[in-house]
Amino acid sequence: MYNSNPTLESVGKKVDESKQGEVFFQEDTDDGRKKFYIESYGCQMNFSDSEIVASILGEAGFSPTRNMEASDLILINTCSIREKAEQTVRKRLRIFDKVKKQRPGTLVGVLGCMAERLKKKFLEEEKLVDIVVGPDAYRDLPGLVAGAEEGHKGVNVFLSREETYADISPMRLDSNGVSAFISIMRGCDNMCSFCVVPYTRGRERSRNAFTIVAEATNLAERGYKEVTLLGQNVDSFKWENPETGKVVNFAELLIMVAEVSPDMRVRFSTSHPKDITDDVLYAIRDHENICNYIHLPVQSGNSRILKLMNRTYDRPWYEAKVKRIYEIIPDCAISSDIITGFCTETEEEHQDTLSVIKFARYSMSYMFFYSERPGTLAARKYEDDIPLEVKKSRLTEIIYLQNDISRALNAADVGKTFKVLIEGDSKKSDKEFKGRNSQNKMIIFPKKGDLKTGDYVHVKVHTSNSATLKGDIV
Ligand code: SAH
Ligand code: SF4
Ligand code: F3S
Repeated sequence: MYNSNPTLESVGKKVDESKQGEVFFQEDTDDGRKKFYIESYGCQMNFSDSEIVASILGEAGFSPTRNMEASDLILINTCSIREKAEQTVRKRLRIFDKVKKQRPGTLVGVLGCMAERLKKKFLEEEKLVDIVVGPDAYRDLPGLVAGAEEGHKGVNVFLSREETYADISPMRLDSNGVSAFISIMRGCDNMCSFCVVPYTRGRERSRNAFTIVAEATNLAERGYKEVTLLGQNVDSFKWENPETGKVVNFAELLIMVAEVSPDMRVRFSTSHPKDITDDVLYAIRDHENICNYIHLPVQSGNSRILKLMNRTYDRPWYEAKVKRIYEIIPDCAISSDIITGFCTETEEEHQDTLSVIKFARYSMSYMFFYSERPGTLAARKYEDDIPLEVKKSRLTEIIYLQNDISRALNAADVGKTFKVLIEGDSKKSDKEFKGRNSQNKMIIFPKKGDLKTGDYVHVKVHTSNSATLKGDIV
């Protein structure tokens, strides 16, 4: 998760727990196998990767456990996106140290983006870490664990141009049996100047489209009702069939996955404003089960800042994209990521970010203040010159504005009826269900009859606030 407690540094970007995993997580069966415990931080890609890691370890004779104290191997899948994300990981390592002292022989492994960023420096900085594995080296994990058991600390942070783990069937961790992630590509070739991802995840590569469809088909056969196609920039998905030479683009892939089952919803994240095409919008419009929801991060509403950020679009281009989306899919919800206080941002330029939020009418946004990341273009070229208090006060302003807009948009949903996929009991009561509509809005409603998680129902909304809708089954 990005942050379990919304703070001024970041709000939202919390991976919904209900979206993780699948049925065959065997809860602590005493099967005599060695146990691994895994914690994930960061974006959905990381949560998806943890399921690949779990599958690789499963093949190597390990079983997953939710009990850290009873595990032989503690893994943490890390995020480097902002300084705070890395601090969270360091704090967790202190806790793991304690477990390790109580249970000598327990191994600690650091996976993911922070492992990639720090490489073997991790072993120098954190003495109790035994293994450091980057996002493209998970197949090597069993070997590295075997080495560590013999007392040899191991590092593999090799970044690959080919690895997509296409053949690995993820072990779904903590599943509600309804929603699953499917990773469709890895890495990122966009050099947004603030962003560490191209350095931690390497070059962009797309996964074999047939293995994506096969994974979706398998999920549908097991009763899943929703898949989310994941990539840092899904719109640049491009896979060439080596046999026919035919290239599959993202719009075509979306349709292939949508056609797996009309009963299974398809979502995707993240779209880049420069790459999303009309064909993607038509695919959404023409397929009821492709959800009317697009995460289209703007980052800033000011063209000069966007240029410094190397986003490769400007304000008018972004506005035209938003207009086009609402034109083709009038009831589409759009959400965003926004950064305040990027290098040299003036008060006036910050006002442009406020106005783009109003223009785009985001259903919600993930909002952050700028955090300089070592090695990025921005860190090398620009001074991080906006004082922290200013970054934070600008962030507060955009949070308030976004909340007002979310509240108004949700109020406009009162009286409407939506098709909702039941995800489980609401947080507050086992007499209520929670679920989402196509626009990705959470709706809470009283249970009725023998409806269950994974069923679709029609719910008429009667109440709203800035985060949720409430209604009744009709
Ligand atoms: N690939 C996605 C986003 C990946 S990172 C995209 O292009 O939109 C998720 C979000 O974290 C980004 O959209 C950005 O808003 C935020 N982010 C990335 N680097 C950051 C930094 N250095 N400081 C603050 N926020 C950052
Ligand atoms: Fe980072 Fe930009 Fe790539 Fe997104 S598109 S992961 S923000 S470099
Ligand atoms: Fe974080 Fe890496 Fe994702 S830096 S946001 S876990 S790609």
